[in-house]
Amino acid sequence: MRARRLVILGATGDLTGRYLLVAIAELADAGLLPDDLAIVGVAREQWDTATFRRHAEERLGRHAPELSARARRGVADRLSYVAGDVADPAILSAAFGPDAVRSLAYLALPPSVFGPAIEALAAIGGSGGSTVIVEKPFGTDLTSAKALNDLLHRHFPEEAVFRMDHFLGKQTVQNILGVRFANPLFQPAWNREHVAGVDIVWDETVALEGRAGYYDRTGALRDMIQNHLLQLLCLVAMERPEALNAKDLRDRKVELLRTVRRLAPSEVSGGSTRARYGAGAIGDRPLPDYADEAGVDPAHGTETFAEVTLFVDSDRWHGVPFRLRTGKALAADRREITIRFRPPRDPVFGYKGEPPVNQLVFQMNPDRMVLDLALNGAGDPFCLEPAELELTLAAQDLSAYARLLVEALDGDPALAIRGDEAEECWRIVEPIVAEWGKGSPPLLCYPAGSGGPDR
Ligand code: BG6
Repeated sequence: MRARRLVILGATGDLTGRYLLVAIAELADAGLLPDDLAIVGVAREQWDTATFRRHAEERLGRHAPELSARARRGVADRLSYVAGDVADPAILSAAFGPDAVRSLAYLALPPSVFGPAIEALAAIGGSGGSTVIVEKPFGTDLTSAKALNDLLHRHFPEEAVFRMDHFLGKQTVQNILGVRFANPLFQPAWNREHVAGVDIVWDETVALEGRAGYYDRTGALRDMIQNHLLQLLCLVAMERPEALNAKDLRDRKVELLRTVRRLAPSEVSGGSTRARYGAGAIGDRPLPDYADEAGVDPAHGTETFAEVTLFVDSDRWHGVPFRLRTGKALAADRREITIRFRPPRDPVFGYKGEPPVNQLVFQMNPDRMVLDLALNGAGDPFCLEPAELELTLAAQDLSAYARLLVEALDGDPALAIRGDEAEECWRIVEPIVAEWGKGSPPLLCYPAGSGGPDR
């Protein structure tokens, strides 16, 4: 059943302005926002609906400049506003109104307010058909993630909880399963016998961008690897789901995560990298040392670059390294997953120069697939040369956020993170967090605009 009401808790915050309102506007523009959907913002600012609408229009102008002024106003005119504390059941009652319709409660809040807001939702009978959307970070470690799950499960059935990971709304990320399971070509090769290693890389040119309040207590490992990159690992390595529904998809992901081995302290100290950017420039954009960015406390020792190699202890993947790497303020945006195949055991052909690489690459933004092959070069028919099969994928029609919002409105949690999944992800990164917390390996430095730390 489609939701008829969307209540945004934390409606004046950065997340709402930057992502959620933009997603709503995108859906409206694409004719996908149900006409009967009421959208209500709740926040502490003592505003009225007219002020909130002006604020929303301004945010849309800033974050979705491609929308016409008319479209921005159209979205703003659909909004209403209730001023007050999201932890106050009376305020939430006012926001949800008297009608018993299926509703979405979107927690666009700092994590410290999740608990009180969930209690208040429960107090007004929120479990009667509402879906609760919880933004990342889902906890800060395994213990806090479990506590948050316990609290949610006390009041809401798991199917009514939508833990957001916007990577699951990316078209090319969804495409991984299609490529793997709809093409018999790849299936026999998708295992340790044929795959030498998998690289999951999310290098960004963006730096802190004024997010010190969140990022300086989070760092690259928790911001990106604990959630987004582990999701990519799941889609690359999980077994085939019986059906593409919430249960099967997420069962397979959790099974895979359970087989990801927790690293020993010596593997973390000897085989992972943590680093942060120093002063430098990306193109002609100068950047200060991370430690000098506004709001940063250098004593936190926060990393802006993280790389870890994980292993999946299953018959399919035993011994295959999965390298997960991400960093900010790097020279170039590089968002890709590379499946590196093993070289043939007994090549009967000669190679010109280095043996050609055989690998499949999923690239995101722009979205492309590349298959690197060894082919007969020109001239000598028994000599091989590298060649590339390249496919430009259709641009994403809806942004990842908008796509996930549609799923949430429809009440389908297939592309949301399940509670046990979030906990498994923390189980995997916990030993890394622990070792890094002891200063091992040491925090390296790389100049902003470089290719990352030298190791
Ligand atoms: C967010 C992280 O979840 O994902 C950011 O908090 C990161 O630090 C972003 O930049 C990356 O996602 P995308 O879709 O912009 O590549």
